[in-house]
Amino acid sequence: MILEALASRRSARSFEPGRPIPRELLERVLEAARLAPSALNLQPISFVVCTRPETKRALRAAAFDQQKIEDASAVVVLAADLELAARARRRPELSCFEPERLAEWTELARMAYDGRPDRCRDEAFRSGGLSAMALLLAAEGAGLASAPVGGFDAERVARAVGLPPARLPVLLVALGYPGAKPRLTPRPPRASDGVRWESWSG
Ligand SMILES: Cc1cc2nc3c(=O)[nH]c(=O)nc-3n(C[C@H](O)[C@H](O)[C@H](O)COP(=O)(O)O)c2cc1C
Repeated sequence: MILEALASRRSARSFEPGRPIPRELLERVLEAARLAPSALNLQPISFVVCTRPETKRALRAAAFDQQKIEDASAVVVLAADLELAARARRRPELSCFEPERLAEWTELARMAYDGRPDRCRDEAFRSGGLSAMALLLAAEGAGLASAPVGGFDAERVARAVGLPPARLPVLLVALGYPGAKPRLTPRPPRASDGVRWESWSG
């Protein structure tokens, strides 16, 4: 089932402009992103769902004028929290440990992320990537076309949707109805291609 969705999903090259996605369907697709895994369960990704024409126009301008951003029914900005140690302190209910190990979880987050913006940024892209994939698969399951878009100016995207400081846009996911059937992009012919067992040299 999941493999089928993976096999049929392709990035939309264009969308049918001006056709809204029913709110309920959009919310169902976003539910998938809510369920995605994240390091220490810190759930650092927020989703800014943009459907207004003026916002999509601003996002298009921030994304090297990619037309599909404006034509999509909705563009989801995946924005990561870059202050993960503070997040663990602020949101104890997120602990992935049993309640009696909360202090241990907070301490782990402190050790891993306090004063380590590089690690927070790495985590932003790892967790953001998984959330984006969840969104793409949910969209496929809901019969919607989708496209991940990483070609954008982060500062302009942040401005377009009013992100607070310490929130980094890691990816846009455009959702809508296909304008044209996307070409099936090539993949390695066999599952074993590109896979190495046990070590790089095998
Ligand atoms: C991180 C990332 C960034 C991407 N950025 C863009 C983009 O800015 N514009 C675009 O048209 N496609 C973008 N894509 C889509 C890729 O071109 C596409 O996934 C790839 O060619 C494989 O095709 P498929 O998704 O149809 O299987 C991006 C994909 C990923 C994973």
